[in-house]
Amino acid sequence: MPEEQAKDFLEARPWLSGICDTQSTEELKNKYDGWAKTYDRDVRKDWSFMPGNIARTLSQLLPQKESVILDAGAGTGLVGEALAQKEYSNITAVDLSEKMLAIAKEREVYKALHQSNLEDSQMFSNSVTFDAIIAAGVFAYAHAGVKVLNNLFCFLKEEGIFLLTIREDYRPQMQTALEGLPWTLVSEEHFPIYI
Ligand SMILES: C[S@@+](CC[C@H](N)C(=O)[O-])C[C@H]1O[C@@H](n2cnc3c(N)ncnc32)[C@H](O)[C@@H]1O
Repeated sequence: MPEEQAKDFLEARPWLSGICDTQSTEELKNKYDGWAKTYDRDVRKDWSFMPGNIARTLSQLLPQKESVILDAGAGTGLVGEALAQKEYSNITAVDLSEKMLAIAKEREVYKALHQSNLEDSQMFSNSVTFDAIIAAGVFAYAHAGVKVLNNLFCFLKEEGIFLLTIREDYRPQMQTALEGLPWTLVSEEHFPIYI
């Protein structure tokens, strides 16, 4: 992106550089706590298509509505809401930020909500596994990386669906780990956002 365009882009989205310029998990949690009330409004222009897209993709790959689903990095619950509109009813939310989760809870679409770091291998008991794990907007600079990917994979059932978004410029950092997991790529889509 040319420099002038990049400047305009960031000026229109002051929150973007704020969250991607974070040094620790604690700092990230505090930033999302502080952002929770205006998150939905702020991301609407760039992101509003994505939850519906994810729900549509999942319903093509996993049509059973009683499937056990983890919304990893659920934030304010935009993805959970889109899944509920497709009649999925067994969705668990996990997020670092209590305040984001508090908004997600108000949507009344999650069976359970947990405040936890997705890097934590003890986040659920050993026996808990999911038919589908969704991570939307989570694999990004200063957010989640390889450690989270590998940890989440342990909670996925054999034959389960892992549905994730990754920014194109962050993907090289994830590529080796993505290729290292024993899974099969079922489908991939590219979306030009932040333009
Ligand atoms: C850009 S928001 C996306 C929220 C939601 N998935 C959506 O599509 O609107 C990223 C979310 O991931 C959460 N997050 C980032 N890193 C995390 C981690 N290591 N553990 C748990 N949550 C994390 C943040 O707290 C934030 O709510």
